[in-house]
Amino acid sequence: MNSLLSATDSRSALSDQVRRQFGRGAAGYEAQALLQRAVACRLGRLCRDLPLPAGPRADLGAGSGLLSRALPAQGLLQLDLCPELLQHNPQQPTLVWDLNDGLPSALQGAALLASGFALQWLDDPAGQLGHWCRSLAPGGWLVLAVPTAGSFPQWHQAAAAAGVACTALELPPADRLLQAAARAGLHPYHSRVLRFSRPHQGGLAALRHLRRLGAGASPQPPLGASELRRLLANWPQKTSLTWEVLVLVGHRDHPAASGP
Ligand SMILES: C[S@@+](CC[C@H](N)C(=O)[O-])C[C@H]1O[C@@H](n2cnc3c(N)ncnc32)[C@H](O)[C@@H]1O
Repeated sequence: MNSLLSATDSRSALSDQVRRQFGRGAAGYEAQALLQRAVACRLGRLCRDLPLPAGPRADLGAGSGLLSRALPAQGLLQLDLCPELLQHNPQQPTLVWDLNDGLPSALQGAALLASGFALQWLDDPAGQLGHWCRSLAPGGWLVLAVPTAGSFPQWHQAAAAAGVACTALELPPADRLLQAAARAGLHPYHSRVLRFSRPHQGGLAALRHLRRLGAGASPQPPLGASELRRLLANWPQKTSLTWEVLVLVGHRDHPAASGP
């Protein structure tokens, strides 16, 4: 491998890995995505009466369309990096797009930008979130769920105890995302950092679940076999895996839009 790999090359290398892993798990994604489905339903309830202005609507990192199907708003563009997941998405229209390149120009002045469990995969989640907020029409709405830095404490602790690298994806801190959204003019209507525990029988089951979900990509090299054994030996059996998820619904400045 070229040792002078540029930042852009390593970025597209992660995008490639993410696309391949989600592509491989596409057929089984929804059976694994119980947390994603539960959070989508929560967002759907929160967004029952959003006063949406005119303008384009999109689900960013839509995958198989779980979030869009839970939202009352219709006609969201289903945008995703992974064509295989979009093939399992019953909603239309769809667009294969890498969100590291920002948003397509057709989404400028958006009435609604929704995104579930996708922003964390981008190279600069806070920067892209600011861009999403600035792309909203006045009075346009952001509907977001994203796992954040307090997730997977069991994995981090087991890696530290084993003396091996934690190869979990580095997740953005919730407060940094909230600051980026506020700086870009978003007014929160609902903002919560939630914790969910998935019952797993120890580390192996937790890691297998992430892999089956398609969410096993990481910019870090995988552990070797003996490192993995040490990691699992230090991961308490019968512990759950904790996810920290920022749920944010807010609107861009508009004198007439004060909340549903
Ligand atoms: C965990 S899935 C979530 C899918 C869906 N939003 C849901 O809630 O079930 C993450 C999605 O983000 C997409 N994604 C990851 N990186 C992306 C990128 N750079 N550009 C566009 N989509 C991306 C993946 O392809 C995948 O569909």
